[in-house]
Amino acid sequence: MGTQEQERSKAEVGVGITGLPSPQIAEEGSAPGPTIELADRPAITLEGEPVELLAQQELSEFLTEALLPRWRTQLVTNPLPEEREKMVARLCAESEICRILHQWPASDAMLRLVYYHQVQKPVDVWLSGGPSGQALRDRLRFCSQWLGQWLVHNRGRPKLVMDPGGGHAPYGFGAIIEAERRARRESWKVTARDLQWSVVDLDQITVEYGQEMARQKKLDQLVHFQKANFMSRGFIHPQVDLVVLIGVLCGMTEEEAVKCLVRISDFVKPGGEILAATLRDTAFAEDPMTFRTLCNVIGWHLRPKTLSQVKRVFTKAGLQIKGIMSERAYGDGQYAIVHAINPA
Ligand SMILES: C[S@@+](CC[C@H](N)C(=O)[O-])C[C@H]1O[C@@H](n2cnc3c(N)ncnc32)[C@H](O)[C@@H]1O
Repeated sequence: MGTQEQERSKAEVGVGITGLPSPQIAEEGSAPGPTIELADRPAITLEGEPVELLAQQELSEFLTEALLPRWRTQLVTNPLPEEREKMVARLCAESEICRILHQWPASDAMLRLVYYHQVQKPVDVWLSGGPSGQALRDRLRFCSQWLGQWLVHNRGRPKLVMDPGGGHAPYGFGAIIEAERRARRESWKVTARDLQWSVVDLDQITVEYGQEMARQKKLDQLVHFQKANFMSRGFIHPQVDLVVLIGVLCGMTEEEAVKCLVRISDFVKPGGEILAATLRDTAFAEDPMTFRTLCNVIGWHLRPKTLSQVKRVFTKAGLQIKGIMSERAYGDGQYAIVHAINPA
């Protein structure tokens, strides 16, 4: 194996990750899929008490005991602001994840810790090792597999991909690695002629981190970074075959998500595709301790959505949903992964 291939295989997504079964996807060269038709889940209860959806309330409401099941009130119920401040200070001292999220919610830096298991402090080991940390790694693995399959399916047809809010481009690197793994019998390497992957992200440090990673992987001719706000009116970008929108809609209200998707559709060629992942209500129900700690105490204002809300958002934005998938093989994961088309 040459140095370049070694570099790439070191970064292989999902290596060493145990846990949930891999999603079943189709054979090499076939169209990505299959898509699973998911249904809304019935309301979840814990010890007979209904689980509230936290991020649909205002933050101040999170602090009232009435919204929390009795069995977990100890850690996250803090009616007095000064007590909450003390708890935030303590969590930020004991956890890199909490410190990062408290400073800047939805930061790529937090994802880097979780994706690559770069956690040491006990609170971080707990946060990253739990179902929600695993769901993030499964999301990366599942989407990379889908994207890799998409690249193989479109081999011979040069593709432009835009990755708004793409962070350090883990999905771009993952897609290329996965495509080459799938086409290894023919020793196919994804070249700059096959793919131009364009990340647009606001955060300078993240952009620099991604550029360095691309250089190290010898993918800097394929994966490009631009520091910009893709929502700003003045921002322009060539229309692409596929937009990858992952981890961007999770904190948005329905109205904000529609606005974001309408803006995104400006960048997609007529008939072009979108792969987007957003947090589902199932996440809060499955892992209340993590989300109550991160939302109630640290102040990360996530907005998980039901499948009906996800469908409504995409439809209102004028996009045609081809399928909704999950990061888990059996379909009941923490993320709705939507494959949509920008109608011609
Ligand atoms: C949670 S991270 C997701 C990173 C990556 N997509 C992933 O899932 O691994 C969200 C990223 O979106 C970026 N972002 C948020 N709003 C943006 C905007 N309007 N324009 C460009 N980047 C934005 C942030 O800087 C951050 O890096």
